[in-house]
Amino acid sequence: MSDHSGAAPHGSPETTGAVDESRRSFLTFATAATGAIGAAFGAVPFIASWSPSERARALGAPIEVDVTKIDPGQMVTLTWRKQAIYVVHRTPEMVAKLAGHDGDLKDPGSASSEQPDYAKNAARAAKDQFLVVIGNCTHLGCLPKTRFEPNQPELGTDWPGGFFCPCHGSKFDMAGRVFNGSPASVNLRIPPYSFSNDSTLVIGKDDVAQGAA
Ligand code: FES
Repeated sequence: MSDHSGAAPHGSPETTGAVDESRRSFLTFATAATGAIGAAFGAVPFIASWSPSERARALGAPIEVDVTKIDPGQMVTLTWRKQAIYVVHRTPEMVAKLAGHDGDLKDPGSASSEQPDYAKNAARAAKDQFLVVIGNCTHLGCLPKTRFEPNQPELGTDWPGGFFCPCHGSKFDMAGRVFNGSPASVNLRIPPYSFSNDSTLVIGKDDVAQGAA
């Protein structure tokens, strides 16, 4: 599990080991005009491929992510249209836990929250195993930190895993749904996205057929 307290440098993706605070794997990627280079620990050599030109990307062109490079339980952070985008490869256990705390959420059905229709479901996703969410807190825009490990003392013994915004204490589950008592009033927003094939996530474009689950 890893922290994401600071905004990712514009145009820079970073990837995060996300299951256990004690086994944090935090990989930050620097990007050059041609793509991502380098990883702090060298464990994941290449996460995202930037298909558009730099100029096109500056205009907000879609970005592609090879999701096969994101291990279960890990998260990568990218920037799209000056917003932080979190992509989490959720484990089956993470997905299963989404069903257990609707009563603790402000908007469990995402009725008042912002997401495409294909993400207005229990997992808030086109594919259950991948959460794609705008990382900026819906309170005042800070970047919530990952708190994926359940039962963290500071978040309560019934904590199911999710995100914690340190700025004013908003809490979100593994689908970006906000918990009661948080200053944020709605769930984390979900950008348009699609899968152009089984391995390629396209953020910013959802007019292609959804890939097979
Ligand atoms: S900005 Fe996240 S709780 Fe205020």
